Amino acid sequence: MHLTKPTLLLLALTISTGCVQAKPEPQLLEGLWNGLGEAGQNIIDGIVGAGKNGTAIAEDFLDSLKNSTSQFAQDAANFGEQIAHALHKAAAQSLSEFSSLVQSVLQILRGANLKGTDRVRRNALQKVLNALEIINSTTLDLEASLADISEQLEEQRQEYAGEIKEQWGSDWAADQLERVDEKTDGAGSDDAEAIIDELQNRYSAYFHSCLEELQVRQGQYEQKVHETISIFHTATNDLIGKIDNCLKRTSGPISCRRGINEALAQLQDAPGKLISLKFQGLQLLAVGLDAASCVGQTLADYELEKTNVERQLEEIIERYQDENSTTGEDSTTEVYSTS
Ligand SMILES: *[C@@H]1O[C@H](CO)[C@@H](O)[C@H](O)[C@H]1NC(C)=O
Ligand SMILES: *[C@@H]1O[C@H](CO)[C@@H](O)[C@H](O)[C@H]1NC(C)=O
Ligand SMILES: *[C@@H]1O[C@H](CO)[C@@H](O)[C@H](O)[C@H]1NC(C)=O
Ligand SMILES: *[C@@H]1O[C@H](CO)[C@@H](O)[C@H](O)[C@H]1NC(C)=O
Repeated sequence: MHLTKPTLLLLALTISTGCVQAKPEPQLLEGLWNGLGEAGQNIIDGIVGAGKNGTAIAEDFLDSLKNSTSQFAQDAANFGEQIAHALHKAAAQSLSEFSSLVQSVLQILRGANLKGTDRVRRNALQKVLNALEIINSTTLDLEASLADISEQLEEQRQEYAGEIKEQWGSDWAADQLERVDEKTDGAGSDDAEAIIDELQNRYSAYFHSCLEELQVRQGQYEQKVHETISIFHTATNDLIGKIDNCLKRTSGPISCRRGINEALAQLQDAPGKLISLKFQGLQLLAVGLDAASCVGQTLADYELEKTNVERQLEEIIERYQDENSTTGEDSTTEVYSTS
């Protein structure tokens, strides 16, 4: 069940920020909807229809999960991955579309023949050119940084997934169970299994909690990139209309300048916000390092507890052997004769 928490938060994020209205935006959640299965769709239709905010959605969803089967929990974990993937794709895609748009406007402006144009109009267009050059370079910078951050986080993930798998995939648990089974003629197996299960379940929860903050923070960040860039994209389309009016001279110089200034005002914060998004992304690397060190520490703790569990299993074996070798001739004989 612990697998579902980041999923819920991501789902709540996706829904609450308007990416999912009656049905998700195809480009954002492409493929996700169909992958959900009917049960998941009913739940999501229900919460989307209620029009609640993200926190309320996560709470409701958690509530309904309390009654759900482990199959559903598994589905939910899969949604989580798909949602994270969709968010990542949406952020990368909106950045790439935005930077293409800005570059195409720059090319139009540079190619425009401004000879014989009045000074007011020329100055207004020059101002746009300067502003877009800065936006172009900060956007490209953010795009490169986002790709780099995602790659580094993915590498880290692969690395600790490998370490966890190595520990988890070892035959330790099976070997221990077999040892107790043999040495107690099966009498200690149930107790040994309970002890080992408790250890494995507890540690698998610890590993998930090491990683879930990173998953959620990354999802939130990519959501924010997507949202911010979408706003700038709309503002740039507006600016393109104004540039077009100026170049085609469908309006006088003063109205050209006013239109340009109004449209540019919407993009005034863009360079600062783009740079800030880059730094927020870099902070994710620190969260990634925390996750990695949490996994490392958890693996070390697990090693220690394994020794502890081995001692408890040894006690089960000793108890069996004591009880079955010191209770008089008859029982001893019985053990020998039945084994
Ligand atoms: C969202 O839901 C939570 C929990 O139900 C509530 O505390 C919060 O005030 C809500 N926020 C808004 C903006 O409605
Ligand atoms: C969970 O199951 C109980 C008993 O079957 C039911 O009363 C309750 O309404 C269910 N809760 C949800 C959230 O579905
Ligand atoms: C956008 O910025 C990059 C990097 O600063 C630069 O190489 C490229 O030529 C710019 N594109 C345009 C169309 O100005
Ligand atoms: C001793 O052996 C008997 C018979 O195999 C078994 O039922 C009992 O649980 C054993 N005692 C302990 C402490 O395991």
